Formats: sequence, structure tokens, C-alpha cells
Amino acid sequence: MNTPERIRLANLPTPLHRLDRLSESLDADIWIKRDDLTGLELSGNKVRKLEFVLADARRAGCDTIITEGTCQSNHCRATAAACARLGMQAVLLFRPLPPAGVAGNQLLDSLFGAQTMAFSREDLSANKNAILSRLSAELKREGRRPRFTPAGASEPLGCWGYIEAARELRDQLHAANIRKCDIVLAVSSCGTAAGLHLGKLLCGCGDWSIWNVPVSDDVEHHRREISRLCSESIEQFALPIKTSAEDIAFIDGYVGEGYAIPYQQAIDGLRLLARIEAILLDPVYTAKAFCALLEMVRAGNLGKERPVVFLHTGGIFSNFAWPDVIL
Ligand SMILES: Cc1ncc(COP(=O)(O)O)c(C=O)c1O
Repeated sequence: MNTPERIRLANLPTPLHRLDRLSESLDADIWIKRDDLTGLELSGNKVRKLEFVLADARRAGCDTIITEGTCQSNHCRATAAACARLGMQAVLLFRPLPPAGVAGNQLLDSLFGAQTMAFSREDLSANKNAILSRLSAELKREGRRPRFTPAGASEPLGCWGYIEAARELRDQLHAANIRKCDIVLAVSSCGTAAGLHLGKLLCGCGDWSIWNVPVSDDVEHHRREISRLCSESIEQFALPIKTSAEDIAFIDGYVGEGYAIPYQQAIDGLRLLARIEAILLDPVYTAKAFCALLEMVRAGNLGKERPVVFLHTGGIFSNFAWPDVIL
């Protein structure tokens, strides 16, 4: 197995703790893994992936990271912050996200000195290769050495963030005397889910049931993407495991009307967790996944026979981009 190099950016291990007040109110056993606390500027799940992607960029002598997302992307903000910390330049290719303005993550991108370029969703998806090769050529002419990482840093190298996170979580669960559990998380660009799945297999955590909650696309899209990332990682890093698309489980029905379109039940869950545990979710990812967890717990399908762990993947700055939705 070829373990790649990493740069330390995140505050690890992030805490794992029981949600006592929520558990009591729902008569269930509910835990949380606080990856919202990987850092402040570098908060959320993306930091774990960037530790590997940016180590690779530095080793290759790159000084500029090009990546993409919506103008409220947590990944773009984390990339901008990581680049600022490492003395690199972030170039962010943005898709618009109405009605979010320049508050929230976009405000931070500007403070971290990221260069941003706006594209329509259609233009970026239809012409991505041409846009990237033109931009790379321009940057090289200016004497820069760019490296591209896709949305969410969801490339095989980025998956290592959650392969390592699985090891961290296993040790914490063992220390809490927990072996069998359910784990619930939001899934979008799929690197977190793929890494956690690979990490589960590599760490011998066959007693975990991982429930991926799509927040952007349909289950078939996510199953395909997670499987692709798993197969590419297994091949690229000679991982001594086998897996198939059927091993990946989902809780479906929580996208709502679409990506980044919040809905009432998810906002209700966000407000409940804030009020009862003083923990902040975000309206785009974690509130939807947490809504799935709450409904499964209330229906008696999770958190009764064994603990359920919510993987909090961060995103709190989005709350400041959609204050009217949240209130
Ligand atoms: C806060 C938050 N949670 C969850 C996700 C989903 O993670 P992934 O893109 O690796 O599926 C993202 C990013 O897309 C995110 O920003």
C-alpha cells in the first residue's frame, strides 16, 4: 500500500462525543464526530482532503491551486485559506448560486486573497477542459505553476483525508467501547464518502453501517461517483481491499428541490441542534443529512439498538449567506 505524503493543516483528532440532551429527548443513542472543528478558517471536511492534495502540489513545485465550486463553496473557501497559509495562490472558478451574495464563504475567499472567475453552470460543465487549459497556459506564461483539483478536492488523493479519518474515528469509538454503529453523513462530490468507505474496509470496521445522504444529485449518480473514486484509489495506491457499488448504502429523499435549496424540515433540524446542543449545522449539506438522521431516529430505525454517529462535515459560514432562510 502506498500511503501518500500529507501537510498538517487541520486540528486533529476532532472530538467525538455523545449528544446527551438530544439523545434524551429522542430516547436514542446519538453521537457526533465534530469535523466542523477541523479549524476556523479551515473548518469542515475539505481540510482533511487538502492536506494530501496540497502536499502533492508542493512536492511537484506548484504555487497555484485552481479549483471550482459555487460562489458559496466551503471547499473553495477552505482551499483559499489553505493557500494563504502555505503561501500559494488560489484561483477559484465559480458557478453562481442565487440568491447568495458576497457574504459567508465568498467574503472569506476575498479576505484570503483568492482570485475568482465567474462562469455559468452550463459553460463550466460543457467547456471545463478548454477553460482549464487556457487558464493554465495563461498562468504559466505569468511564471506560475498551477495544479487543478476538482470540486470538493474529490480526487483519489483527496480520499486519503477520510481514509485517515476512519482510522481516527475507529480509535475514538473503541475508546468509548463502541464497535457496532451507524454513521450518517452528507454526500455531494463524493470524496468524503469514498474515503470513509475505503477507510472502513482498511481499518477492519466491518461493524459500521455507513449511510450516505445525497444533498445534490440522485442516488445512482452518487453510487457511480463513490465507486469510481474507490476503484481509482484502490488502483492508484495499491490498497489491499476489494469493494463493489452494492456495498455503498444511502438514505434517499433529502435533496429537496435541489442542491443548495433549503427546505423547512432541514432548517427545523438545524434550529433544534443549535437550541438543544449549541452546535451549528449549515443549510446546504449538514442540515439535510441531519434531517435524514432525525427522521430515521424518530421512526425507530436508527439510534435504538446501537449508537448512531452523525459526521458533522462543517459549512457554518453558509448560515451567513442565507440568514433570511434560516430565520
Ligand atoms: C459542509 C459540507 N458537508 C458535506 C459536503 C459533502 O462532501 P463531499 O463533497 O466530499 O461529498 C461538503 C462539500 O461538498 C460540504 O461543504
